[in-house]
Order: sequence, then C-alpha cells, then structure tokens
Amino acid sequence: MISFCISSLLSVCIFANLYNGCAAKPNWEATPLSIGGTTTNPSAMDMNLRIERISRSEFGFSGTFFWNIDVDDSVMVEMRILSSYSGDESDYKLTPMSIQPQKFTEYVNTFYKDLLLPNLGNCTDLPVYENEFVPPWPKATYNFTRCALNGQGLPDILADGFYKGEAVITAQPNLEVTVSVVLRIRTKMF
Ligand SMILES: *[C@@H]1O[C@H](CO)[C@@H](O)[C@H](O)[C@H]1NC(C)=O
Ligand SMILES: *[C@@H]1O[C@H](CO)[C@@H](O)[C@H](O)[C@H]1NC(C)=O
Repeated sequence: MISFCISSLLSVCIFANLYNGCAAKPNWEATPLSIGGTTTNPSAMDMNLRIERISRSEFGFSGTFFWNIDVDDSVMVEMRILSSYSGDESDYKLTPMSIQPQKFTEYVNTFYKDLLLPNLGNCTDLPVYENEFVPPWPKATYNFTRCALNGQGLPDILADGFYKGEAVITAQPNLEVTVSVVLRIRTKMF
C-alpha cells in the first residue's frame, strides 16, 4: 500500500518523486488491524468484510457489502474518527476529522467522492458519479478485493498510534449499521 517508498529503495523513490509527486505523499503508513460491523437488520443492509494480506508488508481488506434500501432524506451517515496512542479501548478519543451526521446524498457528493473513492480506487465496484449524485443509489451487493488506503485526500501528517474509523448509517424505521476499521499508523522512517 503506502509502504513501498521506505526501505532500501530510497534512491528509486527519490527518482520517482520527480515524476509522480511521491514527495507530496503522506509521512505515515497504515496497517489495518481489524474491520467489521453490526447491523440491526441484515435483510436491509449487511456486510462480510475481512483483512487480507497482500504481500509481506502490505494488507488490505476484502469482502462484500449488501445494500438493500432506497436512499431518501431519512438515510444519514456519521463518521467518527477516534485515535488512541496506546491502542487501549479506554484511550480512544474523538478527533476533529470526524463528520457530524449528514444526509447520505450529501455524504456521497462530498466525502465519498473526494476521499473514499479516490482512496479505494479500482478495488471495488461501488458506484462512481462524475457529476452530482442524485438518488436512486443502486441496491446491490458491492464487492471489495484487497482494498488498501493510498492516502489520497488524507492528512499528510498523522501522529503515530491507533486510529478507529466508525461509519454509522441510519435509516427509517430503525436501521442502524456500523462499519468499524482499526488502523495502526506509523511514521515512515527515511
Ligand atoms: C482504474 O481502472 C480504470 C479503467 O480500467 C483506469 O483507467 C484507471 O487508471 C484505474 N485506476 C487505478 C487507480 O488503477
Ligand atoms: C459483486 O460480485 C457478484 C459476484 O461476482 C456479482 O454478482 C455482483 O454483481 C457484483 N456487484 C456489483 C455491484 O457489481
């Protein structure tokens, strides 16, 4: 994923910087530790996601996400980003990178388009919207194959530690789905 710039290939990386802006890439690398979620109604929305090893030092996640509801103004998304220096459950604190609950439609036109899709790239068949997204959002089982974060649109500098991202999707009458990812962030050593 992001770790190819480190190691003894330093000179190759410097060379590559001249061409693809490697220098603007984040100073950190992320190792996913866990991914999972809960749903209050598996026939409306459900998931089956797991961490997978891609190579000796690279990890990603794979699996499926089942979406079987119509998107209307009642569908909301909240993103909670927590960090913990120690990784202890009791140390996790909310960070300012979190996003207050917002309409799913708004979320697709901002966070999803600007950050999520550019990061996932071609590892998924989630819908891509060149122009403004207007519902319907297709009901489908979306696939993820060895997805890794490439750092696009994320802060260039992150403090070492454990980060937990929780996406909470809610819809009427009483659907609540949480997807939770835990990452270990380490500063790259050049
Ligand atoms: C994704 O696939 C498209 C079409 O196959 C290609 O043009 C694009 O460069 C790919 N993007 C990445 C990040 O690999
Ligand atoms: C995900 O993969 C399954 C099985 O290959 C396929 O039937 C389904 O259409 C895929 N989902 C999307 C959104 O393309």
